[in-house]
Amino acid sequence: MHSVGNDWWRDAVIYQIYPRSFADASGDGIGDIAGIRSRIPHLVELGIDAIWVNPWYRSPMFDAGYDVVTYEEIDPLFGTVEEAEQLIAELHAVGIRTIVDVVPNHTSHLHTWFQEALAAGPGSPERERYIFRDGRGPNGDLPPNDWVSCFHGPAWTRVTEADGTPGQWYLHLFAPEQPDRNWEHPDTVRELEDALRFWFDKGVDGFRIDVAHSLFKAPGLPDLNGLTWDDKCGEHPHWDQPGIHEIYRSWRRIADSYDPPRVFVAEAWVPDHQRLKNYVRPDELHTSFNFDFLTCPWDAARMRRVIDVSLETLGSVGAPATWVLGNHDVARVVSRYARKEQRRGQNLVHLAKEYDLEMGQRRARAAIMLMLALPGSVYLYQGEELGLPEVEDLPGEVMQDPTWARSGGTDPGRDGCRVPLPWSPEGPTFGFNTTGVEGWLPQPEWFGRYAAASQEGAAGSMLGLYRTMLAARRAEPALGGGEIEWLESPSGVLAFVRDGALACVVNMTGIEPCAVPAGEVVQCSGTLTSDGRLPIDTAVWIRL
Ligand code: NOJ
Repeated sequence: MHSVGNDWWRDAVIYQIYPRSFADASGDGIGDIAGIRSRIPHLVELGIDAIWVNPWYRSPMFDAGYDVVTYEEIDPLFGTVEEAEQLIAELHAVGIRTIVDVVPNHTSHLHTWFQEALAAGPGSPERERYIFRDGRGPNGDLPPNDWVSCFHGPAWTRVTEADGTPGQWYLHLFAPEQPDRNWEHPDTVRELEDALRFWFDKGVDGFRIDVAHSLFKAPGLPDLNGLTWDDKCGEHPHWDQPGIHEIYRSWRRIADSYDPPRVFVAEAWVPDHQRLKNYVRPDELHTSFNFDFLTCPWDAARMRRVIDVSLETLGSVGAPATWVLGNHDVARVVSRYARKEQRRGQNLVHLAKEYDLEMGQRRARAAIMLMLALPGSVYLYQGEELGLPEVEDLPGEVMQDPTWARSGGTDPGRDGCRVPLPWSPEGPTFGFNTTGVEGWLPQPEWFGRYAAASQEGAAGSMLGLYRTMLAARRAEPALGGGEIEWLESPSGVLAFVRDGALACVVNMTGIEPCAVPAGEVVQCSGTLTSDGRLPIDTAVWIRL
């Protein structure tokens, strides 16, 4: 059953726009708001319910906008606040909602408060808004603890005090240009509440919360002592601290004070659904990305476990599940599925050398059919609808992700999934802009093959499949919210029914075609065999 009205988020299909790489109307090589506006017809034809736009606020772009100077200005690279309002209104006019990003854990180092903190010196109230500490060792020249940055290297940087002497250290779980805020400080709480209200007042329908499981740090900032996040959930000193939940309760009250109420989706890489569910209790956030689904290998038993655990645990607090296969931080889905195994990790970019792109495409086609058949909401990452692979051979000198430099050129980081989109099969930038100014990351020569325009009307294209499936999901009363019932199936096959009416079967055996239930074939991600069986790496919807 499909959700309507204020419950729209329970089963919406949300398309992620990474504005730098979507469409470049100004022609400077970096995508912008005018570019998004020019491509609204693409979004309408795709059949999505909402977009989520990555940060577009004023920023020196040390982490592609996740280093925010102020929420009340749009970075001139992307446009103006007025253009953002026009975009929101134009999308509303065609029935598409807008979700924007909020980055509460850290600011840009150019944020006024951080600059004031640097100038004011140790012990000052200005330093209290961030996490400054004296170093360890006799001269304070060792970092205050052993935390590491998510982009490699230490999570602490030492500052030079006004008198020119080496001074205190400040915490940055990401790049040094992204100092962590102190969430015990009332100014922090107030500034973020103001940011929410500013954009809610401009008409945005919700926020995606960056590193939603961070914010608070354990008192005393204890050492990790080798503790990793995956194996010690709940005891980690800088993830998932209890104070977070009170903040999200207050954010929920703000969202609920609007008519219609606004919504939140959490980016919380919490490796345990029991803890993840705490973020989506009825008085906290609405939904949270399902990274267990994204990172799950192409294995029916493991996939079934992820689906069951997601539905049961989130369902126990009344929250819908979400399903996601890609975003701007992970290698593109066709390239991951082109490998025998996909490894869990921050960026999932350490892709094995050997791969089979055709297999990746087949599995990605089946996976979208699986996602759209499950109860809950679905996130798509721009370019996924084109079947775009990861660009795996970007040369070091063009890499922009801080991960590359901070790892000494050993970790390729996330640039490979952020290359500007191809819209037309030819032209210097494949229609990303009309000036021919090369995009901020170079597009490979093979990009044109995946261009949106090349797929228009082409039989069996990924774009055609996405459009057809999104329309089919919308039209199908058995889909949207609700339950699933598993069907008996051979090992390696996922098979379930929605509302007693519509079956979805996915053949993950990797070995042989499988039988499908009797009924009318609604859609198939490939072609059934001549005797009506489902080939490997293929999905089918059947009306029983
Ligand atoms: C998660 C975002 O998705 C990622 O792109 C960013 O680098 C980090 N948070 C830090 O803000």
